[in-house]
Amino acid sequence: MAAMTCLVQLILSLVNFPFFLHAVETDYASAELPNTWRNNDFISRGSVDFVDGSTIRSILLNTSNPANFPAFGCGFYGRKTTNSFYFAVFAVEATSDSTIIESGSPQILWIANRDNPVKDNATLEFTGDGNLVLTDADGMFIWSSNTSDRSVNYMNITGNGTLMLVEFNGLELFSTTVWSSLDYPINTWLPGQTIEEGQRLIASVSASNWTPGQFFLSFANDNLYAFIQSSPPQVYLQVFNEGAESKQFRTGRLELEYTRQTIAARFTSETEKFQFLRLDTDGHLRVYQWDRANASEVADILTDNRGICAYPTVCGKYGICSNGQCSCPVGNNGDTSYFQQLNSSAGCRQATPLSCQSTHLHSFIELPNVSYFSFVAAISDTDIESCKHACLENCSCKAAFFHYNSNNLSGNCSLPSQIFSLMSTSPVLDRYNSTSFIKVQRSTLVPASPASPSPSPPLARKKSIRIELIIGPLVAALIFTFNLIGASVHILRKRGSIEEEGRRKTEDDWEKSLNLATNLPTRFNYEDLRSATENFNKRIGGGGFGSVFEGTLGDGTKIAVKRLDRLGQGRKEFLAEVKTIGSIHHVNLVRLIGFCIGNSNRILVYEHMNNGSLDKWIFHKNPATTLKWEIRKNIILDIAKGLAYLHEDCRMRIAHLDVKPENILLDGSFNAKLSDFGLARPIDRSQSHVITQMRGTRGYLAPEWLSRRITEKVDVYSFGVVILEIVCGRRNLDFSQPDEDDYLLLPVLKQKAEQNQLFDMADNCIEGIQQNAEEVVKMIRIAIWCLQSDYNKRPSMSMVLKVLEGLLTMEPISDYSFLTSTLVEAPAEVVMVPSSPQPASILSGPR
Ligand SMILES: *[C@@H]1O[C@H](CO)[C@@H](O)[C@H](O)[C@H]1NC(C)=O
Ligand SMILES: *[C@@H]1O[C@H](CO)[C@@H](O)[C@H](O)[C@H]1NC(C)=O
Ligand SMILES: *[C@@H]1O[C@H](CO)[C@@H](O)[C@H](O)[C@H]1NC(C)=O
Ligand SMILES: *[C@@H]1O[C@H](CO)[C@@H](O)[C@H](O)[C@H]1NC(C)=O
Ligand SMILES: *[C@@H]1O[C@H](CO)[C@@H](O)[C@H](O)[C@H]1NC(C)=O
Ligand SMILES: *[C@@H]1O[C@H](CO)[C@@H](O)[C@H](O)[C@H]1NC(C)=O
Ligand SMILES: *[C@@H]1O[C@H](CO)[C@@H](O)[C@H](O)[C@H]1NC(C)=O
Ligand SMILES: *[C@@H]1O[C@H](CO)[C@@H](O)[C@H](O)[C@H]1NC(C)=O
Ligand SMILES: *[C@@H]1O[C@H](CO)[C@@H](O)[C@H](O)[C@H]1NC(C)=O
Ligand SMILES: *[C@@H]1O[C@H](CO)[C@@H](O)[C@H](O)[C@H]1NC(C)=O
Ligand SMILES: *[C@@H]1O[C@H](CO)[C@@H](O)[C@H](O)[C@H]1NC(C)=O
Ligand SMILES: *[C@@H]1O[C@H](CO)[C@@H](O)[C@H](O)[C@H]1NC(C)=O
Repeated sequence: MAAMTCLVQLILSLVNFPFFLHAVETDYASAELPNTWRNNDFISRGSVDFVDGSTIRSILLNTSNPANFPAFGCGFYGRKTTNSFYFAVFAVEATSDSTIIESGSPQILWIANRDNPVKDNATLEFTGDGNLVLTDADGMFIWSSNTSDRSVNYMNITGNGTLMLVEFNGLELFSTTVWSSLDYPINTWLPGQTIEEGQRLIASVSASNWTPGQFFLSFANDNLYAFIQSSPPQVYLQVFNEGAESKQFRTGRLELEYTRQTIAARFTSETEKFQFLRLDTDGHLRVYQWDRANASEVADILTDNRGICAYPTVCGKYGICSNGQCSCPVGNNGDTSYFQQLNSSAGCRQATPLSCQSTHLHSFIELPNVSYFSFVAAISDTDIESCKHACLENCSCKAAFFHYNSNNLSGNCSLPSQIFSLMSTSPVLDRYNSTSFIKVQRSTLVPASPASPSPSPPLARKKSIRIELIIGPLVAALIFTFNLIGASVHILRKRGSIEEEGRRKTEDDWEKSLNLATNLPTRFNYEDLRSATENFNKRIGGGGFGSVFEGTLGDGTKIAVKRLDRLGQGRKEFLAEVKTIGSIHHVNLVRLIGFCIGNSNRILVYEHMNNGSLDKWIFHKNPATTLKWEIRKNIILDIAKGLAYLHEDCRMRIAHLDVKPENILLDGSFNAKLSDFGLARPIDRSQSHVITQMRGTRGYLAPEWLSRRITEKVDVYSFGVVILEIVCGRRNLDFSQPDEDDYLLLPVLKQKAEQNQLFDMADNCIEGIQQNAEEVVKMIRIAIWCLQSDYNKRPSMSMVLKVLEGLLTMEPISDYSFLTSTLVEAPAEVVMVPSSPQPASILSGPR
């Protein structure tokens, strides 16, 4: 509010007194020409070193954005360690007085010089004739907006993440946009932005190197496609279905627009939060949502119905992806000599590279039920032998892919000149039969396997005989050399197989320990889960960890299937978690039914909870679904029971670390169960645990998170916040409150507690609340008890439970100064230690 008023005043002052401008220090979202900014910490206005190692030296920053939106800025972005910087538009979290918060992770929305980073002391100049020019430290020209003499006099950073050069006449309140960063897409796509025919979104090489990489998104034949660079580029993803003009996803949509001979696609976000699309370095087109100083993935466009195997680099070159696991092509009779496994991102290497000089040694490895992400028919309605023959005839053809017609042995033939990842197909699920023939070079040292007779034309064979005759005198020397090479190849291969064996052994060990472990939930195979969820179709939730899908098992049991991010945990940690969570059973904890683990799949299967998460039911803004007091009371009791069991009763004592309404699920009868143990950690009396994964949620974090040393009592604090939210019908942290001072609930609570008017806190609209005033006030007091900033004074969950059940009373609290308005942010790393035993003095004993 205050910021808004300020802005209005500012605009008025600009209108009335244009000369006043230089004195206004807070005017930070626009700049007048001429002006020069140097890329170093001393001269730039807001220089911030982020926890992730990047640095921003901001030039402009617009902080007057709606709640759930970041601040947008432009300036130098890069890393001091490598001394490479970009002139970029970014999204960051900032306070209303324009201080950028360094614990966040800045999101880069646009870059001027993506393939030419600059160094320290590079300059950005907004010249007197209205041009924006980036020059490196050594004076080398890097980039310019080419807007000289086009009447530009302002550069602005708008409330939608756009850098604009405008012609602005302050007196007439009239402005024309001459240049906009929206017209020069990099790899992100902002709400409202269109990508037109002729424009490309190009993924970066890696997260820290913004050079254009191999994936791009652009129009062809009136549709938007994703391509991987090769000659010619290969399509791996079609954005709009045939004939469709829009593509809806959970949090927004893409739409085709036809404007004056061109076609464009517009991205529209359908949530109140700031979202953007990004073509990522792995070729996925993902939707990100701004959330607590960072952006997290909320959707992966098109992956859910294509599967992760349909991406060109998922298993590297020539790697075959099957349910997310990678392998190399194997010849007839299990001959593994043609391909060597490199690391999973590099794929497989041909033992003998293909050579156009000796095409008579070309041959095929036949891979039934294997296909390719891109199928462009080079020959339609042909037979399999003609398809193979066409590939052998043309040296730039690297494989023949054949798709059978459904009713006869004819089909279509594709002959690409460069091979990325292959994918296994299932004739039943994918509704087509396909066979792939991978072209390989037979080495003269490896005799052709008799099962795959060389299809090379006789002419070529004759030619090679002639060559052998000519070089006859050299043959003896050559044989000697070949023997040497042969021996070393043999040794290398043997070493490879020993390593392979070692790897297999640890896998086997894990399999063994899995089989021995008791109390382990069911192990599902990926195909079963894929069919149970109808190919991961109905997404019911998700977050930073991955996505949750609804499914039904063969026996009709409804399940919630949580697919974790591919790069999250290692195999060992995942299984440790499954063992831990799988072995605890309590009526107030969501039950883990099973799991699935493959090379890159980490899936958890939970019981399905009909009424979803608690946040949908308690907040005032959903009058249709607000629960009555009696039910709310029972939910609080259920959560307390679940937490008490986790902390104190179960064999493996556990801290949850992310208690919030989203993680409390309700069954058909509104019984509450705690869920989401992704962050949970064992409470180990003999050991502390370093936690670097994701931590807690803003608004629910106890003050000691700041000290980076926490105990299970942080759950008690979060529980206190949840009680308050249930009783008050609003969030603790609620940016939609009309008054800035009321964003947080705790200061309001402090005031009411001091005035002894706690009942004012309760949401009047809750049915039955007036009739139970005494109970309601007691509940708020319990919340206050749990919210004490000294965690030693906070009760244990079992004590809370006893008070809730009326078996104990708590001593009244008279000093409420701990109910402060500080909003705690989670640090990057914390250490979890067990709490010291409860001092008995706080209790007044049974009544
Ligand atoms: C940048 O310029 C300042 C003064 O203009 C100078 O003191 C500093 O050494 C320069 N930094 C580098 C890395 O050249
Ligand atoms: C500016 O003009 C140069 C030369 O005509 C061109 O290479 C460059 O891409 C242009 N820059 C922009 C931002 O349009
Ligand atoms: C650019 O900034 C000026 C000064 O802050 C402002 O008055 C004007 O409306 C802005 N123009 C646009 C297009 O945002
Ligand atoms: C900053 O953002 C606000 C709100 O989104 C917008 O109204 C304002 O015009 C922006 N400032 C400039 C200078 O563009
Ligand atoms: C961004 O904001 C500017 C001015 O505030 C407006 O002219 C432009 O249309 C907006 N762009 C999008 C994509 O919404
Ligand atoms: C920000 O989000 C990204 C991706 O969702 C994640 O990898 C990163 O750890 C997050 N950073 C912080 C500081 O939370
Ligand atoms: C995988 O191999 C490629 C090429 O051999 C190499 O550049 C890359 O760094 C390797 N990646 C990993 C994770 O080892
Ligand atoms: C290909 O898949 C079909 C159907 O799943 C199966 O019957 C057939 O045996 C598979 N072929 C090979 C060679 O694996
Ligand atoms: C083969 O291509 C034709 C024409 O391009 C197409 O109509 C047909 O559906 C394709 N058949 C298969 C099996 O892909
Ligand atoms: C195979 O079936 C397709 C229709 O699916 C037909 O067009 C084609 O002529 C048939 N080919 C042969 C050789 O029978
Ligand atoms: C050989 O194959 C490449 C791509 O696979 C194709 O572009 C080229 O036209 C083919 N050449 C002949 C003579 O068919
Ligand atoms: C294609 O797959 C189906 C189902 O597995 C099978 O019945 C059929 O024989 C296959 N056709 C060919 C040509 O392989």
